[in-house]
Amino acid sequence: MGERVRKEELALGLEERPSSGGADEEEDLIAGLCAFYKGLKARQRDAGGLYLPGGEWGEYLAERRAFYESLAQGDLEDVHAGLRGFWRNELGPIVSNYAYYRDLAAGKPASVERFMTLMSRDYGIWRSLYPDEPLGRLRVPEIGDPWGLSIGGELVAPQAFRFHNHSRQISGILSGIGKPVWAEIGGGYGGTAFYYLRNALEPGVTYVDFDLPETLAIAAYYLSRALPGRRIWLHDGAAPLTRESVSGFDVVLAPNYAIERLEDDAVDLFLNAFSFSEMPYPVLENYLRHVQRTTAGYFLQNNMDRSGVVNRGFERVPCSRYPIDPRRMKLLYKKHDLFQGTEGDYRECLYQRIAAGGA
Ligand SMILES: C[S@@+](CC[C@H](N)C(=O)[O-])C[C@H]1O[C@@H](n2cnc3c(N)ncnc32)[C@H](O)[C@@H]1O
Repeated sequence: MGERVRKEELALGLEERPSSGGADEEEDLIAGLCAFYKGLKARQRDAGGLYLPGGEWGEYLAERRAFYESLAQGDLEDVHAGLRGFWRNELGPIVSNYAYYRDLAAGKPASVERFMTLMSRDYGIWRSLYPDEPLGRLRVPEIGDPWGLSIGGELVAPQAFRFHNHSRQISGILSGIGKPVWAEIGGGYGGTAFYYLRNALEPGVTYVDFDLPETLAIAAYYLSRALPGRRIWLHDGAAPLTRESVSGFDVVLAPNYAIERLEDDAVDLFLNAFSFSEMPYPVLENYLRHVQRTTAGYFLQNNMDRSGVVNRGFERVPCSRYPIDPRRMKLLYKKHDLFQGTEGDYRECLYQRIAAGGA
Protein backbone atom coordinates (compact mmCIF):
# COMPACT_ATOMS: atom_id res chain seq x y z
CA MET A 1 0.00 0.00 0.00
CA GLY A 2 1.49 3.39 -1.01
CA GLU A 3 2.08 6.00 1.70
CA ARG A 4 -0.40 8.42 0.10
CA VAL A 5 -3.15 5.78 -0.09
CA ARG A 6 -2.50 4.79 3.52
CA LYS A 7 -2.80 8.41 4.67
CA GLU A 8 -6.02 8.89 2.75
CA GLU A 9 -7.50 5.68 4.14
CA LEU A 10 -6.80 6.82 7.65
CA ALA A 11 -7.97 10.40 7.07
CA LEU A 12 -11.25 9.11 5.61
CA GLY A 13 -11.63 6.64 8.44
CA LEU A 14 -11.25 9.36 11.05
CA GLU A 15 -13.79 11.72 9.45
CA GLU A 16 -16.64 12.68 11.75
CA ARG A 17 -19.79 10.59 11.55
CA PRO A 18 -22.20 12.22 13.96
CA SER A 19 -25.36 10.33 14.90
CA SER A 20 -28.45 11.48 13.09
CA GLY A 21 -30.70 11.50 16.18
CA GLY A 22 -30.93 14.77 18.11
CA ALA A 23 -31.40 15.02 21.87
CA ASP A 24 -35.19 15.32 21.54
CA GLU A 25 -35.50 12.25 19.32
CA GLU A 26 -33.43 10.15 21.70
CA GLU A 27 -34.88 11.57 24.88
CA ASP A 28 -37.00 8.53 25.77
CA LEU A 29 -34.16 6.13 25.10
CA ILE A 30 -31.69 8.14 27.20
CA ALA A 31 -34.18 8.60 30.05
CA GLY A 32 -34.86 4.84 29.98
CA LEU A 33 -31.12 4.09 30.10
CA CYS A 34 -30.62 6.35 33.12
CA ALA A 35 -33.44 4.60 34.99
CA PHE A 36 -32.06 1.19 33.93
CA TYR A 37 -28.57 2.06 35.18
CA LYS A 38 -29.81 3.51 38.46
CA GLY A 39 -31.87 0.38 39.20
CA LEU A 40 -28.93 -1.91 38.41
CA LYS A 41 -26.54 0.04 40.63
CA ALA A 42 -29.02 -0.04 43.52
CA ARG A 43 -29.35 -3.83 43.26
CA GLN A 44 -25.59 -4.30 42.78
CA ARG A 45 -25.10 -3.27 46.44
CA ASP A 46 -26.72 -6.52 47.59
CA ALA A 47 -25.02 -8.72 45.00
CA GLY A 48 -21.74 -9.22 46.86
CA GLY A 49 -18.10 -8.38 46.19
CA LEU A 50 -17.65 -10.88 43.35
CA TYR A 51 -19.91 -8.73 41.19
CA LEU A 52 -18.28 -5.36 41.83
CA PRO A 53 -15.87 -4.00 39.22
CA GLY A 54 -12.47 -5.38 40.12
CA GLY A 55 -8.87 -5.56 38.92
CA GLU A 56 -7.99 -3.31 36.00
CA TRP A 57 -11.70 -2.70 35.28
CA GLY A 58 -12.14 -1.00 38.63
CA GLU A 59 -9.45 1.44 37.50
CA TYR A 60 -10.93 1.99 34.01
CA LEU A 61 -14.34 2.81 35.42
CA ALA A 62 -12.91 5.19 38.01
CA GLU A 63 -11.36 7.18 35.15
CA ARG A 64 -14.81 7.75 33.63
CA ARG A 65 -16.61 8.50 36.86
CA ALA A 66 -18.11 11.78 35.64
CA PHE A 67 -20.10 10.05 32.88
CA TYR A 68 -21.45 7.38 35.23
CA GLU A 69 -22.45 10.02 37.76
CA SER A 70 -24.48 11.76 35.04
CA LEU A 71 -26.14 8.42 34.24
CA ALA A 72 -27.03 7.84 37.89
CA GLN A 73 -28.34 11.37 38.31
CA GLY A 74 -30.37 11.25 35.11
CA ASP A 75 -28.58 14.23 33.58
CA LEU A 76 -30.02 13.63 30.12
CA GLU A 77 -27.99 16.28 28.32
CA ASP A 78 -24.62 15.03 29.61
CA VAL A 79 -25.49 11.39 29.05
CA HIS A 80 -26.63 12.11 25.55
CA ALA A 81 -23.46 14.06 24.77
CA GLY A 82 -21.37 11.15 26.12
CA LEU A 83 -23.20 8.45 24.19
CA ARG A 84 -23.47 10.22 20.88
CA GLY A 85 -19.67 10.52 20.82
CA PHE A 86 -18.72 7.37 22.70
CA TRP A 87 -16.34 6.14 19.99
CA ARG A 88 -14.13 9.19 20.44
CA ASN A 89 -14.51 10.58 23.96
CA GLU A 90 -13.44 9.20 27.34
CA LEU A 91 -15.61 6.09 26.76
CA GLY A 92 -13.63 5.39 23.55
CA PRO A 93 -11.23 2.71 24.93
CA ILE A 94 -14.15 0.25 24.70
CA VAL A 95 -13.99 0.44 20.87
CA SER A 96 -10.23 0.83 20.44
CA ASN A 97 -7.70 -1.62 19.13
CA TYR A 98 -4.00 -1.04 18.42
CA ALA A 99 -4.31 2.75 19.00
CA TYR A 100 -6.54 5.33 20.64
CA TYR A 101 -8.55 7.77 18.55
CA ARG A 102 -6.95 10.82 20.18
CA ASP A 103 -3.44 9.63 19.24
CA LEU A 104 -4.45 8.86 15.65
CA ALA A 105 -6.26 12.19 15.32
CA ALA A 106 -3.15 13.95 16.64
CA GLY A 107 -1.09 12.07 14.03
CA LYS A 108 1.26 10.46 16.57
CA PRO A 109 3.65 8.58 14.26
CA ALA A 110 4.03 5.43 16.40
CA SER A 111 0.25 5.09 16.87
CA VAL A 112 -0.46 5.69 13.18
CA GLU A 113 2.16 3.16 12.12
CA ARG A 114 0.94 0.51 14.55
CA PHE A 115 -2.73 1.00 13.67
CA MET A 116 -2.16 0.93 9.91
CA THR A 117 0.20 -2.05 9.98
CA LEU A 118 -1.97 -4.21 12.22
CA MET A 119 -5.29 -3.29 10.57
CA SER A 120 -3.76 -4.12 7.16
CA ARG A 121 -2.49 -7.44 8.51
CA ASP A 122 -5.92 -8.25 9.94
CA TYR A 123 -7.62 -7.32 6.69
CA GLY A 124 -5.35 -9.73 4.78
CA ILE A 125 -6.16 -12.56 7.22
CA TRP A 126 -9.90 -11.83 7.15
CA ARG A 127 -9.97 -11.59 3.37
CA SER A 128 -8.19 -14.92 2.95
CA LEU A 129 -10.78 -16.58 5.22
CA TYR A 130 -13.80 -14.87 3.70
CA PRO A 131 -12.87 -14.29 0.04
CA ASP A 132 -16.47 -13.84 -1.09
CA GLU A 133 -17.73 -11.70 1.76
CA PRO A 134 -18.47 -8.12 0.65
CA LEU A 135 -16.68 -5.52 2.76
CA GLY A 136 -20.12 -4.04 3.46
CA ARG A 137 -20.66 -6.96 5.88
CA LEU A 138 -18.26 -5.17 8.22
CA ARG A 139 -20.18 -1.89 8.02
CA VAL A 140 -21.11 -0.32 11.33
CA PRO A 141 -24.04 2.04 11.81
CA GLU A 142 -23.31 5.70 12.43
CA ILE A 143 -24.06 5.59 16.14
CA GLY A 144 -21.67 7.11 18.65
CA ASP A 145 -19.49 8.74 15.94
CA PRO A 146 -17.59 5.63 14.77
CA TRP A 147 -14.12 5.74 13.25
CA GLY A 148 -11.61 3.31 11.81
CA LEU A 149 -9.87 2.74 8.52
CA SER A 150 -11.51 3.31 5.18
CA ILE A 151 -10.89 0.23 3.00
CA GLY A 152 -12.32 0.15 -0.51
CA GLY A 153 -14.64 2.99 0.45
CA GLU A 154 -16.02 1.16 3.50
CA LEU A 155 -15.38 2.23 7.07
CA VAL A 156 -13.79 -0.70 8.89
CA ALA A 157 -13.89 -0.16 12.63
CA PRO A 158 -11.17 -1.30 15.04
CA GLN A 159 -11.91 -4.91 16.09
CA ALA A 160 -14.39 -5.36 13.22
CA PHE A 161 -12.49 -8.31 11.76
CA ARG A 162 -12.40 -10.16 15.08
CA PHE A 163 -16.04 -9.42 15.91
CA HIS A 164 -17.22 -10.50 12.48
CA ASN A 165 -15.13 -13.68 12.62
CA HIS A 166 -16.48 -14.60 16.07
CA SER A 167 -20.02 -13.95 14.86
CA ARG A 168 -19.46 -16.36 11.95
CA GLN A 169 -17.98 -19.01 14.24
CA ILE A 170 -20.98 -18.74 16.55
CA SER A 171 -23.37 -18.93 13.65
CA GLY A 172 -21.67 -22.14 12.47
CA ILE A 173 -21.80 -23.75 15.90
CA LEU A 174 -25.48 -22.86 16.40
CA SER A 175 -26.69 -23.87 12.97
CA GLY A 176 -29.32 -26.58 13.12
CA ILE A 177 -30.32 -25.77 16.71
CA GLY A 178 -33.92 -24.57 16.89
CA LYS A 179 -34.36 -21.20 18.65
CA PRO A 180 -30.81 -21.10 19.98
CA VAL A 181 -29.78 -19.05 22.99
CA TRP A 182 -26.23 -17.74 23.17
CA ALA A 183 -24.80 -15.67 25.95
CA GLU A 184 -21.73 -13.59 26.59
CA ILE A 185 -20.01 -12.26 29.70
CA GLY A 186 -18.48 -8.84 29.01
CA GLY A 187 -19.82 -8.09 25.54
CA GLY A 188 -18.42 -4.54 25.51
CA TYR A 189 -20.43 -2.14 23.39
CA GLY A 190 -22.03 -5.07 21.54
CA GLY A 191 -19.72 -5.47 18.53
CA THR A 192 -19.90 -9.25 18.07
CA ALA A 193 -23.62 -9.32 18.90
CA PHE A 194 -24.32 -6.60 16.34
CA TYR A 195 -22.68 -8.51 13.46
CA TYR A 196 -24.29 -11.73 14.58
CA LEU A 197 -27.80 -10.31 14.89
CA ARG A 198 -27.65 -8.22 11.74
CA ASN A 199 -26.72 -11.26 9.67
CA ALA A 200 -28.41 -14.00 11.77
CA LEU A 201 -29.62 -17.00 9.84
CA GLU A 202 -30.89 -18.93 12.84
CA PRO A 203 -34.61 -18.19 13.31
CA GLY A 204 -35.73 -17.22 16.80
CA VAL A 205 -32.23 -16.73 18.20
CA THR A 206 -31.72 -14.95 21.53
CA TYR A 207 -28.54 -13.19 22.63
CA VAL A 208 -27.97 -12.58 26.37
CA ASP A 209 -25.19 -10.28 27.59
CA PHE A 210 -24.03 -10.14 31.23
CA ASP A 211 -21.86 -7.12 31.97
CA LEU A 212 -21.08 -4.44 34.52
CA PRO A 213 -23.91 -1.86 34.59
CA GLU A 214 -21.48 0.80 33.32
CA THR A 215 -20.73 -1.08 30.10
CA LEU A 216 -24.24 -2.43 29.79
CA ALA A 217 -25.63 1.11 29.51
CA ILE A 218 -23.41 1.70 26.45
CA ALA A 219 -24.40 -1.65 24.87
CA ALA A 220 -28.06 -0.83 25.51
CA TYR A 221 -27.71 2.50 23.70
CA TYR A 222 -25.75 1.00 20.81
CA LEU A 223 -27.85 -2.11 20.20
CA SER A 224 -31.17 -0.27 20.65
CA ARG A 225 -30.13 2.21 17.97
CA ALA A 226 -28.27 -0.27 15.74
CA LEU A 227 -31.00 -2.91 15.65
CA PRO A 228 -34.27 -0.97 15.42
CA GLY A 229 -37.37 -3.10 15.71
CA ARG A 230 -35.65 -5.90 17.62
CA ARG A 231 -37.09 -6.90 20.97
CA ILE A 232 -34.59 -5.86 23.65
CA TRP A 233 -35.09 -6.77 27.31
CA LEU A 234 -33.30 -4.45 29.72
CA HIS A 235 -33.20 -6.96 32.54
CA ASP A 236 -33.63 -5.65 36.09
CA GLY A 237 -31.13 -8.09 37.62
CA ALA A 238 -33.82 -9.95 39.57
CA ALA A 239 -36.24 -11.68 37.16
CA PRO A 240 -35.56 -15.38 36.44
CA LEU A 241 -33.67 -16.03 33.22
CA THR A 242 -34.96 -19.25 31.72
CA ARG A 243 -35.02 -20.50 28.15
CA GLU A 244 -38.68 -19.66 28.16
CA SER A 245 -38.39 -16.16 29.61
CA VAL A 246 -35.60 -15.08 27.24
CA SER A 247 -37.03 -16.71 24.12
CA GLY A 248 -39.47 -13.86 23.45
CA PHE A 249 -36.51 -11.50 22.95
CA ASP A 250 -33.78 -10.98 20.38
CA VAL A 251 -31.48 -9.37 22.95
CA VAL A 252 -31.37 -9.56 26.75
CA LEU A 253 -29.03 -7.12 28.49
CA ALA A 254 -28.53 -8.21 32.09
CA PRO A 255 -26.22 -7.03 34.86
CA ASN A 256 -23.33 -9.39 35.67
CA TYR A 257 -24.91 -10.50 38.97
CA ALA A 258 -28.05 -11.73 37.16
CA ILE A 259 -26.02 -14.74 36.01
CA GLU A 260 -27.20 -16.26 39.30
CA ARG A 261 -30.75 -16.05 37.93
CA LEU A 262 -29.86 -18.02 34.76
CA GLU A 263 -31.29 -21.53 34.90
CA ASP A 264 -29.16 -24.66 34.41
CA ASP A 265 -28.55 -25.64 30.77
CA ALA A 266 -30.28 -22.47 29.51
CA VAL A 267 -27.59 -21.62 26.98
CA ASP A 268 -26.41 -23.33 23.79
CA LEU A 269 -23.20 -21.34 23.60
CA PHE A 270 -21.35 -19.08 26.00
CA LEU A 271 -18.75 -16.60 24.76
CA ASN A 272 -16.06 -14.67 26.59
CA ALA A 273 -13.45 -12.68 24.66
CA PHE A 274 -10.71 -10.31 25.80
CA SER A 275 -12.30 -10.17 29.22
CA PHE A 276 -11.89 -12.98 31.79
CA SER A 277 -8.11 -12.55 32.10
CA GLU A 278 -8.69 -8.90 33.06
CA MET A 279 -10.70 -9.91 36.15
CA PRO A 280 -9.47 -10.99 39.60
CA TYR A 281 -9.17 -14.78 39.90
CA PRO A 282 -12.12 -15.30 42.35
CA VAL A 283 -14.37 -13.31 39.99
CA LEU A 284 -13.57 -15.40 36.96
CA GLU A 285 -13.73 -18.59 39.05
CA ASN A 286 -17.30 -17.70 40.00
CA TYR A 287 -18.26 -16.88 36.40
CA LEU A 288 -16.75 -20.13 35.14
CA ARG A 289 -18.78 -22.07 37.68
CA HIS A 290 -21.94 -20.45 36.27
CA VAL A 291 -20.82 -20.89 32.66
CA GLN A 292 -20.35 -24.63 33.26
CA ARG A 293 -23.66 -24.89 35.10
CA THR A 294 -25.70 -23.07 32.44
CA THR A 295 -24.07 -24.23 29.20
CA ALA A 296 -25.80 -27.14 27.52
CA GLY A 297 -23.63 -26.90 24.40
CA TYR A 298 -20.41 -24.96 23.86
CA PHE A 299 -18.09 -22.49 25.56
CA LEU A 300 -15.93 -20.36 23.29
CA GLN A 301 -13.26 -18.22 24.89
CA ASN A 302 -10.48 -16.04 23.51
CA ASN A 303 -8.21 -14.58 26.17
CA MET A 304 -4.66 -13.83 27.20
CA ASP A 305 -2.45 -16.81 27.97
CA ARG A 306 0.83 -15.28 29.10
CA SER A 307 2.02 -15.15 32.72
CA GLY A 308 3.34 -12.01 34.33
CA VAL A 309 1.36 -9.44 32.31
CA VAL A 310 0.55 -6.55 34.65
CA ASN A 311 -1.94 -3.84 33.67
CA ARG A 312 -2.88 -0.94 35.96
CA GLY A 313 -1.15 -2.81 38.79
CA PHE A 314 -3.12 -6.05 38.31
CA GLU A 315 -1.67 -9.28 36.98
CA ARG A 316 -3.75 -10.93 34.27
CA VAL A 317 -4.78 -14.56 34.65
CA PRO A 318 -3.56 -16.72 31.74
CA CYS A 319 -6.42 -18.73 30.25
CA SER A 320 -4.48 -22.00 30.75
CA ARG A 321 -5.14 -21.48 34.46
CA TYR A 322 -8.91 -21.13 34.21
CA PRO A 323 -10.69 -23.63 36.45
CA ILE A 324 -12.65 -25.67 33.90
CA ASP A 325 -13.72 -29.15 34.95
CA PRO A 326 -12.58 -31.66 32.29
CA ARG A 327 -15.28 -34.06 33.49
CA ARG A 328 -17.90 -31.50 32.53
CA MET A 329 -16.39 -29.65 29.55
CA LYS A 330 -14.13 -31.25 26.97
CA LEU A 331 -11.64 -29.14 25.09
CA LEU A 332 -12.28 -29.44 21.35
CA TYR A 333 -9.42 -27.15 20.36
CA LYS A 334 -6.93 -24.60 21.62
CA LYS A 335 -5.26 -22.37 19.08
CA HIS A 336 -3.61 -19.01 18.64
CA ASP A 337 -5.85 -16.02 18.19
CA LEU A 338 -6.51 -15.85 14.46
CA PHE A 339 -5.20 -12.32 14.03
CA GLN A 340 -2.30 -12.17 16.50
CA GLY A 341 -1.09 -15.61 15.44
CA THR A 342 1.88 -17.37 17.03
CA GLU A 343 3.47 -14.02 17.95
CA GLY A 344 0.54 -13.02 20.15
CA ASP A 345 -0.50 -13.78 23.73
CA TYR A 346 -4.14 -14.71 23.08
CA ARG A 347 -5.53 -18.21 22.72
CA GLU A 348 -8.93 -19.26 21.50
CA CYS A 349 -10.45 -22.41 23.03
CA LEU A 350 -13.68 -24.19 22.24
CA TYR A 351 -15.17 -26.49 24.89
CA GLN A 352 -18.14 -28.79 24.62
CA ARG A 353 -20.34 -29.83 27.49
CA ILE A 354 -20.09 -33.52 28.21
CA ALA A 355 -23.57 -34.99 28.38
CA ALA A 356 -24.76 -36.62 31.62
CA GLY A 357 -24.03 -40.13 30.32
CA GLY A 358 -20.49 -39.05 29.38
CA ALA A 359 -21.00 -38.95 25.57
C1 LIG B 1 -11.83 -5.41 26.88
S1 LIG B 1 -13.56 -5.47 26.98
C2 LIG B 1 -13.88 -6.76 25.82
C3 LIG B 1 -15.17 -6.58 25.09
C4 LIG B 1 -15.49 -7.68 24.08
N1 LIG B 1 -15.79 -8.94 24.74
C5 LIG B 1 -14.40 -7.91 23.07
O1 LIG B 1 -14.16 -9.05 22.70
O2 LIG B 1 -13.79 -6.92 22.63
C6 LIG B 1 -13.84 -6.29 28.53
C7 LIG B 1 -15.29 -6.52 28.86
O3 LIG B 1 -15.37 -7.22 30.12
C8 LIG B 1 -16.30 -6.54 30.95
N2 LIG B 1 -15.97 -6.76 32.37
C9 LIG B 1 -14.93 -6.32 33.09
N3 LIG B 1 -15.00 -6.73 34.36
C10 LIG B 1 -16.16 -7.44 34.47
C11 LIG B 1 -16.81 -8.11 35.54
N4 LIG B 1 -16.29 -8.13 36.76
N5 LIG B 1 -17.96 -8.74 35.27
C12 LIG B 1 -18.51 -8.74 34.02
N6 LIG B 1 -17.94 -8.12 32.98
C13 LIG B 1 -16.77 -7.46 33.20
C14 LIG B 1 -16.15 -5.08 30.55
O4 LIG B 1 -17.23 -4.29 31.00
C15 LIG B 1 -16.10 -5.24 29.03
O5 LIG B 1 -17.37 -5.41 28.47
